[in-house]
Amino acid sequence: MTRSAFGVRPVELEPELLEPDAVVDLAAARRDSGIDEVLSRLDTELVGLEPVKTRIGEIAALLLVDRMRARFGIDAVQPTLHMCFTGNPGTGKTTVALRMADLLHRLGYLRRGHLVSATRDDLVGEYVGHTAPKTKEVIKRAMGGVLFIDEAYYLYKAHNERDYGSEAIEILLQVMENNRDDLVVILAGYADKMDQFFSANPGMQSRVAHHITFPDYTAGELSQIAALMSAGMGYRFSEQAETVFAEYLRRRVDQPWFANARSVRNALERARLRHARRLLARPGMVGLAELSTIEPADLLGSRVFRAPDGPDSEETP
Ligand SMILES: Nc1ncnc2c1ncn2[C@@H]1O[C@H](COP(=O)(O)OP(=O)(O)OP(=O)(O)O)[C@@H](O)[C@H]1O
Ligand SMILES: [Mg+2]
Repeated sequence: MTRSAFGVRPVELEPELLEPDAVVDLAAARRDSGIDEVLSRLDTELVGLEPVKTRIGEIAALLLVDRMRARFGIDAVQPTLHMCFTGNPGTGKTTVALRMADLLHRLGYLRRGHLVSATRDDLVGEYVGHTAPKTKEVIKRAMGGVLFIDEAYYLYKAHNERDYGSEAIEILLQVMENNRDDLVVILAGYADKMDQFFSANPGMQSRVAHHITFPDYTAGELSQIAALMSAGMGYRFSEQAETVFAEYLRRRVDQPWFANARSVRNALERARLRHARRLLARPGMVGLAELSTIEPADLLGSRVFRAPDGPDSEETP
């Protein structure tokens, strides 16, 4: 009888074990899993992030090969897939975590493949007895998927022994060990704070198998991200606007609160506002081209151009 007969996991019927001299069609298994689709979407929809993409490809390959090995009866030790994503704001950590959940689901590693995002406030209570139920509730919601803990280091307050964060960490550690076939935990945050967190919590360090670094985007990548995002919103940049936007990015990168791809998205939102205002301020008819083309004027209104070196730029990140 298969495990599914007991209702433990809704897995497909386990196939007969293969003889040692049998061969398996790895390419077909790969096709059937749909992972190539996820990986190629990752490649085309996310600019740059080469090291991240490489690691995801490796994890996918490992899980697929493990599946094939299992068909020969090699009792694959369930790989540990808890991860840590470090990088500056807006480098794509949340976006990649979502795709990771989808990928792990397709590879049969996760039952549901959804993502539950949590921060300290969702996990840690303010009074005695509040933390455990809070943490357990979040974990329960995440079962079968990915639990994404943003700025995980805030769970731990080094100089406060009475802080309830450590209670949440203890519960997480247990679940990460005992339920690792049904829950993937991804911790995210800045690299330096995360290092401190791991030094203070060696148990956490030892349970996280994959440390993935999200680099800041280069100027060229930011421009590509802008093109991709604006196309997604049904806009395009005129040729001159492209040049102006490259200059915008060059200045914006060095200003406070720069947040990589998120700053690009916000800049586009503001450009849309100026674009709409410009069109309305003008009499006469407009066509599709004008309705969807960002011109230099829509960008030059930014504070980045008005006060290039001002320390108090009011641009939001
Ligand atoms: N490589 C990329 N290509 C295209 N769009 C991207 C890329 N990286 C991020 N984005 C977009 O930028 C925005 C911010 O990304 P995301 O929220 O994943 O960053 P984050 O690293 O989680 O940021 P934070 O640390 O602030 O939470 C999203 O709208 C996302 O779609
Ligand atoms: Mg995020």
